[in-house]
Amino acid sequence: MNKRLEMKNLYKLDNIHLNYHVNGNDIKVLKNINFVINKNERVAIIGESGSGKTSLLMLMSGLEKPTTGSIFFNNENLSKISEEKVTQIRRKKIGLIFQQFYLLPNYTSLENVMFPMQINNIKNEKKKANLILSDIGLAHRKNNLPSELSGGEQQRVAIARAISFNPEVILADEPTGNLDEKNTELVSDLLINYSFKKKISLILVTHNMGLVKKCDRVIKLFDGSIKV
Ligand SMILES: Nc1ncnc2c1ncn2[C@@H]1O[C@H](COP(=O)(O)OP(=O)(O)O)[C@@H](O)[C@H]1O
Ligand SMILES: [Mg+2]
Repeated sequence: MNKRLEMKNLYKLDNIHLNYHVNGNDIKVLKNINFVINKNERVAIIGESGSGKTSLLMLMSGLEKPTTGSIFFNNENLSKISEEKVTQIRRKKIGLIFQQFYLLPNYTSLENVMFPMQINNIKNEKKKANLILSDIGLAHRKNNLPSELSGGEQQRVAIARAISFNPEVILADEPTGNLDEKNTELVSDLLINYSFKKKISLILVTHNMGLVKKCDRVIKLFDGSIKV
């Protein structure tokens, strides 16, 4: 591949297979997955429940390893580098968002947003966290715990946390899955607009067709394979 194309690649998945071994049986969760995702691209991953969407995001975040095949992130093979290096890449470059928010329950909104900056030794983390929370209209909730926030507010804090350290990509697993219509729109716009503003990739799993339409491209999974 020529250098110019390589520069544009954020992810390259090369013949990925993922099996889980359960009760002596191999379950084929992902089969022969091949695709490239470029920098500054917004991609929706869709497919029925159980088709392998979450497993695919787990592989792309480096939290899970493929059984066979390679995943390149910025031309680095995630299966060939040390676990510490994968963790460093995830901490510094990948913003993760989940359906269930997963905020730290004993931390306030502000502390949740500061947390990834602290582990990345980013300076002025308090000032930056305050700015992000203001930007997304949650300054008035900065001293509240997650349990004191609505679902929509919790997901916006989770987004603030995921973008606080300027990641190169956001991976989001059904980010609006637990939200009502109004918050679905709010959270969708927040993610899409942020991705355009920072020119970073957004890879999201969703069942929401409104959000799918806001993406540049769709990858459809069917029973662990890409459906064309
Ligand atoms: N840790 C695991 N062990 C065994 N099977 C798993 C595990 N995680 C997921 N699976 C199975 O893999 C398939 C795909 O799951 P998943 O990636 O969560 O799908 P989706 O997110 O599309 O609903 C399902 O059949 C699921 O039961
Ligand atoms: Mg899932």
